[in-house]
Amino acid sequence: MAYIIRPMRLEDISQVVQIERESFPAPWSATNFRYELLFNRTARYFVACVPLPENAAKGGSRLDALISRVQRLFSKSEEQAIDNQWVVGYAGLWFMSDEAHLTTIAVRETYQRLGLGALLLISAIELARERNAQFITLEVRLANVAAQALYTKYGFTEIGIRRGYYYDTGEDALLMTTEKITSASFEGQFQRLKQAHAERWGRQNP
Ligand SMILES: CC(C)(COP(=O)(O)OP(=O)(O)OC[C@H]1O[C@@H](n2cnc3c(N)ncnc32)[C@H](O)[C@@H]1OP(=O)(O)O)[C@@H](O)C(=O)NCCC(=O)NCCS
Repeated sequence: MAYIIRPMRLEDISQVVQIERESFPAPWSATNFRYELLFNRTARYFVACVPLPENAAKGGSRLDALISRVQRLFSKSEEQAIDNQWVVGYAGLWFMSDEAHLTTIAVRETYQRLGLGALLLISAIELARERNAQFITLEVRLANVAAQALYTKYGFTEIGIRRGYYYDTGEDALLMTTEKITSASFEGQFQRLKQAHAERWGRQNP
């Protein structure tokens, strides 16, 4: 499957919030994402999309499909392109001094275990390198073994625990970080993982 990775736009937020709700016990709202896109100058968010079949209308009815087609007839071409893309995952980073902090990463349940989480993480690491970050940090729930396995595979290691970090359940967070992403060892390992990902899942655009 070919995925498009591109910056998140305001028009994506309703789909992103759907994924957010199926992914997290305390999901961010549309307002949170709007704030991040419009006002948080340290933040960069991006989405992974697939082309939406003409009659799918994002899970809606035939009437929805018809309405969306009529709307598209009157919309600008860029909006039309967005309207035809089905968001299947997203991720975001905050840039602070020499650190990039992975704030979120999620993949639609029906698209999980297809290499997409890894593709989003590869894209996040590429973006951090472009922005001259030296390290990438993140927090992850202690019970979230799937995400921890993903991070470990891509060179993150545990450096501490934040007790009671998640206000919804009181769960602890594992704090993880990369080594210097500009180091020869990280770079070598990252290129090998990228290559292996491309061979297994096909070459994508990040
Ligand atoms: C974590 C998440 C983003 C992974 O996305 P994904 O598209 O399923 O991951 P991939 O298919 O790219 O898998 C990449 C690697 O992640 C790890 N992994 C992913 N899902 C896993 C699972 N259910 N169990 C164990 N390891 C898993 C594996 O190491 C895998 O490599 P492998 O295929 O060689 O075994 C996805 O499970 C998700 O969206 N979860 C809900 C949101 C979330 O918890 N986000 C993290 C917040 S800290």
